[in-house]
Formats: sequence, C-alpha cells, structure tokens
Amino acid sequence: MKEINAYVSQLEVPGTRQFSNKVARYDNCVDLTLGQSGFMPASYIKEAMIKAIEENQLRYTHNKGLLELREAVSDDIYRRLNVRYDAETEILMTNGGSEAIDDVLRTLLNPGDEVLVPVPTYLGYEPVIKLLGAETVYIDTTDSHFVPTGEAVAAAITERTKAIIFNYPTNPTGVTYSYDEISALVDVLSQTDIFIITDEIYSENVYDSPHHSFMEFPAVRKQLFVVSGLSKSHAITGARVGYVLAPAELLEHVTTVHLYNSICVATPMQYGAISALKYGQEDVKRMNAAYVERRDYLYDRLVKMGLPVIKPQGAFYIFPDISAYSSDSFQFANELIEAVQLAVVPGKSFSDLGEGYIRLSFACTMEEIVEACDRLERFLHDYPK
Ligand SMILES: Cc1ncc(COP(=O)(O)O)c(C=O)c1O
Repeated sequence: MKEINAYVSQLEVPGTRQFSNKVARYDNCVDLTLGQSGFMPASYIKEAMIKAIEENQLRYTHNKGLLELREAVSDDIYRRLNVRYDAETEILMTNGGSEAIDDVLRTLLNPGDEVLVPVPTYLGYEPVIKLLGAETVYIDTTDSHFVPTGEAVAAAITERTKAIIFNYPTNPTGVTYSYDEISALVDVLSQTDIFIITDEIYSENVYDSPHHSFMEFPAVRKQLFVVSGLSKSHAITGARVGYVLAPAELLEHVTTVHLYNSICVATPMQYGAISALKYGQEDVKRMNAAYVERRDYLYDRLVKMGLPVIKPQGAFYIFPDISAYSSDSFQFANELIEAVQLAVVPGKSFSDLGEGYIRLSFACTMEEIVEACDRLERFLHDYPK
C-alpha cells in the first residue's frame, strides 16, 4: 500500500485525550482533565433543538448559518463589546470553534508560511498548521505571566510570517489579556500585513474584569479573524456551534472552505444556539459564579501546597508550576494517576514551553475539586523532591 499523508503520520494523540482516556482504567478516579463544563445544558436550549427536529428543520441552511442565528451572534458581540459585525457578510457559523480554526488556517496558509503562536496554548492549532505544510513559531510567554508582549511579537516576525494566533482567556493557563496588553499588541501588528487570529472561545468565562478584544481596535479590523463559539459558555460542547468573524471579503473565502468542509452546522443545533444567545445570559453568570468559587478554592489550596501558580482570570483551567518536583510533566501526571487516581493534563501537551507545569480543570464539581486537592497534597507530601 502507498503511504498515507506524510503530515498526518506525524500527528500525535493530544495529551488531553491521552489522560482523559486513562481515567476509565482506574476505579474511583478524580478527573480534572475536562475541557468542558460539568453543568447541564439549559432546558430552553434543548427544547429549541427538539422543536426544530419536530418541525422537520433537518435540511441544509445557508452556508453561513441561519440569518437569525448570525443576527443573534451580531447582537451578542455588540452587547458585550460595543462593536458591530454585520450578520449577512461578516459572520460564519461553523461546527464548533475547531472547524472555525481549521477553516481560517486553510483559508490563509500556504506551505512554508510561518504562524506565530504564543505558548503555552491550546493544542488545536499546531496540528492544522502542520497539515498545511506551514510552520509554527512559538513565542515564549513564560517570563511575561503567559501574556505575549509587543516586543516579543515584533522580534518573532520574519518575511515568512503569515499570521499570529492568540487565545485568551488562555487554555491552559487561565490568564487573559487586559485592554492595555491588547493595545500594545495592536500597536505592533497594525503596522504589519500579518493576519491576526484571535480565539476568544472563553470570552464569556471571565471572572474578575470584563473581557476585552482585538475587535475593539479599528486599526486591526481589516486583518482580524475572530474564532469563538457557544461550546464553553453555554455548556454545549456536543452541539458543535462555533463561528468566525472577519471582514466581508475575507469571510467569503473562509465560507468557501467551510462549504466544501461541512456545508453548514446541523440545523437543529443552530436553533438551539439562537435560544442560548437569546435567553442564556443569566445562566452564563450563574455558571461563572460557581467557577469563581471553585477557582478560589483550588488556587488557595495550590498556594498552600507551595506550588507557584497564577490565579486564573478566565476559562476554567489553572496551571501550577510543578518544576520543583519534576521536569517531566508526562511522568509526573502518570505517577499522579497511578498513585492517587487523580487525572490532570501534563503541561508539555501545550507545547514544550508548558513543560514543568500541569493543567487542572475546575469545570467539575466542588466535591471533586476538594477530593482532588486532598489527593494532590498527599501525593506531593510523599513525592521525592
Ligand atoms: C482555546 C480553544 N479553542 C477552541 C476549542 C474548540 O472548541 P469547540 O469544542 O467549540 O470546537 C477549545 C476546546 O477545548 C479550546 O480550548
């Protein structure tokens, strides 16, 4: 037989999956690997999906998605950021944030292009970049509290740089970017012809101050692709509803890629998403209040255990530094699950610059977090330093 695609054969199963798959092998395992809310989806979302099915809404929609849904996204962005994206021409509904990332990167990249990626970050970008024959260039954020600086970005740009991908609030660190930090990045990038991709899928999950976005800066709007979706904010990861926001002309190209990829998002799911955006604001607040309580507890316990850690301001992850115990986060996480049946994600899953850290999710229940902390404390107590 012929060889499969050379790029595909280089891809590995992500660390998040490797460790969540291990959970089933242990009795009584506490699972802090989750990248999704433990809350149940709201009844008004499910009812809208069911109603759509009962009313035979099972045909293709417009490739960009139902106009009513795009209008709901446009209104939601306006409500949160006071910025208007046009529902007809600047918004594309996709199958989750994942398809949004894939469509945008496939729209932009040629083999040999470089994509700047501040790391540690979400592990979903690099494989797509690789599949396109392009190259990921890391920007180390470990010395700037996981936020890339304008200087670091400027220093990484070369002739071959095609795009930069930001993700904030950041998976796996939980840090987010302030208005001033974004402004400093805008100052650099608005002077270039590089495309900016900003993955703001956790923008509704912010805990201490309102979310700010590159969307608030007109100077970069012409080069800006925003990736987001409802998976995390509305606890509907399985519904697969995401979106891309971009200038009309560029979005037409992304739409072409999307239509050859999946034609449209499943129609009943689009109806559920309309309902989520219309009626979900109170529930988002209620879930966030619970995450804050869990974050605060987890953060305090980790500090008491002596692990250096930044208090997350968004998403539902915390990223303690375990380098005093181990310089091999995969080995550490393996030993942790074997010794005390606690599953976490090794920091190295989020690039080599995540080595020396582990990611813990606080999207689970408070009881699980308390139990996880007790187990981690016991494990560290017995761990040879
Ligand atoms: C930063 C980030 N972007 C995108 C995604 C993918 O989102 P979706 O489930 O909507 O495809 C995830 C999922 O974990 C994520 O953490």
